[in-house]
Amino acid sequence: MHHTSLIGSLATAVLFAATTLAHAHGDVKPQPVDTAGLPENGDEWLTENPYRAESAGQDVWLKAVRIGASGYNQNCARCHGLEVVSGGLAPDLRFLEAEEYGDEWFVERFRLGYTQNGTTKMPAFGELLGQDAAWAIRTYIETRPDDAAMDAVSDELKGLRDELAGYANGAGGADADALKARLSEIAGNIETLSGAPVADSVAFRAANLIDGTPAAYKSAAETLTIGLSAAH
Ligand code: HEC
Repeated sequence: MHHTSLIGSLATAVLFAATTLAHAHGDVKPQPVDTAGLPENGDEWLTENPYRAESAGQDVWLKAVRIGASGYNQNCARCHGLEVVSGGLAPDLRFLEAEEYGDEWFVERFRLGYTQNGTTKMPAFGELLGQDAAWAIRTYIETRPDDAAMDAVSDELKGLRDELAGYANGAGGADADALKARLSEIAGNIETLSGAPVADSVAFRAANLIDGTPAAYKSAAETLTIGLSAAH
């Protein structure tokens, strides 16, 4: 009895190791992306991102960025890099032009993947994830900030973070409008590498959170803390 269960758990361990190894080599099933709340695009593939703020409005755009971030991290990051900063395993997707030309190339790869001499270098995602997920991921990718621009302002952002954390803990005298304005100004100077007009930087996220309440100061401070530590 004991032997059987020992062999059983050994087999499980070996199977687990094999699965982990397979993961490391890229043989991983696409993870579903929950696109609830985004406008649906049907079955016919578009050639241009429908979730940009110019065409879909700010709310849809923001939602697409959030959904796309999670879809990207689950399906693309292990090859294309965390936060879309490539470690060299696969192309750096931040440079893909945020216009129809870049979009067409993006959906082509997304749908069909890439196979070279019979080896799958990138799996096909099109049928399993569908185009709403594709465009949400696209929206996230094209709004990544230029990390060099982030480096240049990280000291000032740390200072603002400490200020926000103080106000969250009840230190008086916060000027919510001034803080928001300064963060927005910093955010406005951080560009994307894709040419998309607005970068979804931590400064941008923090500025959007501030509404003068202690709870908002707290989440803005946390957003900056997480963003600033992830960058290094
Ligand atoms: C198993 C690794 C792997 C995964 C996972 C992966 N890719 Fe790729 N991807 C690659 C490789 C390798 C290439 C380069 C293929 C080539 O030479 O054109 C590539 C190319 C691309 C390109 C073309 C880039 C260019 O500059 O030409 C796009 C767009 C792309 N991938 C998007 C994605 C998206 C979006 C996801 C997640 C949904 C994803 N990839 C997941 C490995 C991967």
